[in-house]
Amino acid sequence: MVALTEMTNWAVDLIDVRKTYGRNVHALRGVNIQVGRGEIFGLLGPNGAGKTTLVKIIMTVVRPTRALGTILGRPLGHRGKLARTGYLPENHRFPGYLTGAQVLDYYGALAKVPRAKRKTNAARWLARMGIAQWANMRVDKYSKGMLQRLGIAQALMNDPELIVLDEPTDGLDPVGRRDVRQLLLELQKQGTTVFLNSHLLSELEMVCDRVAILVDGLVARQGTLAELTEHTVEYRVTFMGNAQPVREKLVAMGGTLDGDMLVIPGSDINKVNAAIDVLRQNNLLIESVEPHRFSLEDILVEAVSSANVGDSGRRKPV
Ligand SMILES: Nc1ncnc2c1ncn2[C@@H]1O[C@H](COP(=O)(O)OP(=O)(O)OP(=O)(O)O)[C@@H](O)[C@H]1O
Ligand SMILES: [Mg+2]
Repeated sequence: MVALTEMTNWAVDLIDVRKTYGRNVHALRGVNIQVGRGEIFGLLGPNGAGKTTLVKIIMTVVRPTRALGTILGRPLGHRGKLARTGYLPENHRFPGYLTGAQVLDYYGALAKVPRAKRKTNAARWLARMGIAQWANMRVDKYSKGMLQRLGIAQALMNDPELIVLDEPTDGLDPVGRRDVRQLLLELQKQGTTVFLNSHLLSELEMVCDRVAILVDGLVARQGTLAELTEHTVEYRVTFMGNAQPVREKLVAMGGTLDGDMLVIPGSDINKVNAAIDVLRQNNLLIESVEPHRFSLEDILVEAVSSANVGDSGRRKPV
């Protein structure tokens, strides 16, 4: 019983997913990822890490070499649950002779959305994505950003419980990207689970509850942003005056002097205060004290450069 509850708790639960293209392109080498219901989950990683392959396996576009797991509580590939899932493929192509409105109707029909619902949803999402004025223009005349907006609208036609977006902000200008972030938060408020691929890390940082970093077909890190960055804090103390006379003392305390800034690694506020005492006792004026968290980019670069790919174990149920 416990195992069953655990299994259905996740919106996406991937266990030991492997994909080898041909004989020796090992795109995925045993990926474990768990996405809670209602989460915005970001999958990130360098080009070629296997992100699109993983998404295509979830959507059953690519056949895995091996995969266990569930989406929306049912085994991967479950037709009923796929019908409850929206999907924006990477570099999607729509038939150029269709208009935007026709594309949405066509893809809605493929997802078995009833006709009346297709009509209201198409109007709703064309408006929400800011492309209503081009609804009746052929999509071969759409700009890249307009096509991307249409692609996202398409992924929403079936009122999905889970939406899987491969590089949703690709081709969008800064305003468009912000708009997509806003949309994701709105979807989350309605209870939709969002699974997205992106290499735009600063964007993920702004909206994702959890992220997994995929490197070379394996999950190098997985967790909330806070979890991923908890051990990567340093304090930066700026001051006025000459700190050279106390340099050795500060270095002995673990600090590093960099011009008029003292950097104390870690998050121990006692250490920071002790170092500030040293500065103050030498009549230096403290200008600012700031905790500095490393960005997702720092974490990714570290994950990519370290051969230590680990922690691909399953998350505990929430
Ligand atoms: N159809 C295919 N046939 C052979 N190899 C493939 C195929 N699709 C992907 N690959 C290989 O699998 C690996 C992972 O590719 P994938 O597209 O999943 O990466 P990605 O993380 O989405 O990269 P990007 O950030 O560039 O989109 C790459 O080495 C790629 O060359
Ligand atoms: Mg990709």
